[in-house]
Amino acid sequence: MGYMIKVNGDTHSVDVDGDTPLLWVLRDVLGMTGTKFGCGMALCGACTVHIDGIATRSCITAIDGIGDSEVTTIEAIGKTAAGARIQTAWLDREVVQCGYCQSGQIMSAAALLASNPHPSDADIDDAMSGNICRCGTYLRIREAIKQAAQSNGQGG
Ligand code: FES
Repeated sequence: MGYMIKVNGDTHSVDVDGDTPLLWVLRDVLGMTGTKFGCGMALCGACTVHIDGIATRSCITAIDGIGDSEVTTIEAIGKTAAGARIQTAWLDREVVQCGYCQSGQIMSAAALLASNPHPSDADIDDAMSGNICRCGTYLRIREAIKQAAQSNGQGG
């Protein structure tokens, strides 16, 4: 079946079954492989994208439920103000270890910062608790989010 889907500002026509997860449309149909498959059950967060700015697990989000919503992926998050600050802080703090979970981590962190420019530790824990890192980069993730929030406060 044909669907029109808006991803990173472009509209794409895709020919897939309606129950196809957004993750596979992004990776296999559109060739955007930055979004990762982790568990397939919305338990690990590796597949996180934004749908209308909300951090969403693309592995359990069927294409036929997306409609006119705007999908943003890791490929374009650096073009948003919050995403750019998060990516800069991630590099400064050398957050990444193996990297597999990090697209999802960045997408969750960027959604947090966009909706809450000065998150508390509890806000960070709430927003990031669904993103698992098998390398244990959690402390650096938290530091990077705080740095990104501070850079926001300085007008950057
Ligand atoms: Fe390896 Fe998070 S950096 S799983």
